[in-house]
Amino acid sequence: MPAKPNVLVTRRWPAAVEARLAENFNAEFNKADTPMSHADFREALKKYDAILPTVTDKLDAEALDVSRPKTELLANYGVGFGHIDLNLAKTHGITVTNTPDVLSDCTADIAMTLLLMVARRAGEGERELRAGQWTGWRPTHLVGTRVSGATLGIIGFGRIGQAMARRAHHGFGMKIIVQNRSKVAPEVLAAYGATQVDTIEELLPHCDFVSLHCPGGKANKHLINGQRLGLMKQDAFLINTARGEVIDEHALIQALSFDMIGGAGLDVFDGEPRIAPDLMQCDNLVMLPHLGSATRATREAMGFRVLDNLEAFFKDGNPIDKVQ
Ligand code: DGY
Repeated sequence: MPAKPNVLVTRRWPAAVEARLAENFNAEFNKADTPMSHADFREALKKYDAILPTVTDKLDAEALDVSRPKTELLANYGVGFGHIDLNLAKTHGITVTNTPDVLSDCTADIAMTLLLMVARRAGEGERELRAGQWTGWRPTHLVGTRVSGATLGIIGFGRIGQAMARRAHHGFGMKIIVQNRSKVAPEVLAAYGATQVDTIEELLPHCDFVSLHCPGGKANKHLINGQRLGLMKQDAFLINTARGEVIDEHALIQALSFDMIGGAGLDVFDGEPRIAPDLMQCDNLVMLPHLGSATRATREAMGFRVLDNLEAFFKDGNPIDKVQ
């Protein structure tokens, strides 16, 4: 790399990664750690060689409304890039990268956590206990649903979907059914004893649990709508660690409130961090504040992966995780 490129980090990152960034780049950090506005982004696009955004940064038409930006690279901290308007970035000649692989295991761990918590009514139990309302053991108290040996439907069978299948099949003896846009190689399916079906409609009626691992963005907005929720078994559970917009939350609230499904576990929300008030009223729902990748090891690995992309981009224009 010739001179040190100017880079902007939009949120606080793990200290070890920030230190390495400060060594290798002219790095500017957002010390306040608050999300940047559209106007902030328009300014930044004129000033920095690279911007290092993350899922809380809406890089949409309004934020990218600049002529001849200086920025050549948006090196995203995170695997999902639905918050970046790729077409507009392309018209500006801006390269976009992400951080796949390094967060698959931890995200699958959170999906499994939600699955177990909602099936075994762990959220309800904890709320009862902390409220001082536990009256003691009894055979009919907070009886949940057995996970071992049940059938899990996985929508989206990329890295995270497969990490989920590994846990569910090899750890809990679950039968796995998969729906994925493209055909999954037979040896990959065989590794998890999984079968693939062509449509979500075929998958839903057979599953005791359904876990979403597809990308977000416009293409998958409300992929799980009222009609599809109606195809789930009445005692089945829906788990979402993908993106909030994949589920029509209004339809989910109806399904949970009228016991059309057994329950749900959500790590992501449409319009997060705003939570639809009616979700708060659903007892058969476990909610986490987007914790999928939130372990020290993974958050550091995500940061170092951004660094790898940055260094490769400014060396020869070929970052490892080029999205476009
Ligand atoms: C991602 O990487 O897209 C996550 O949602 C943030 O961990």
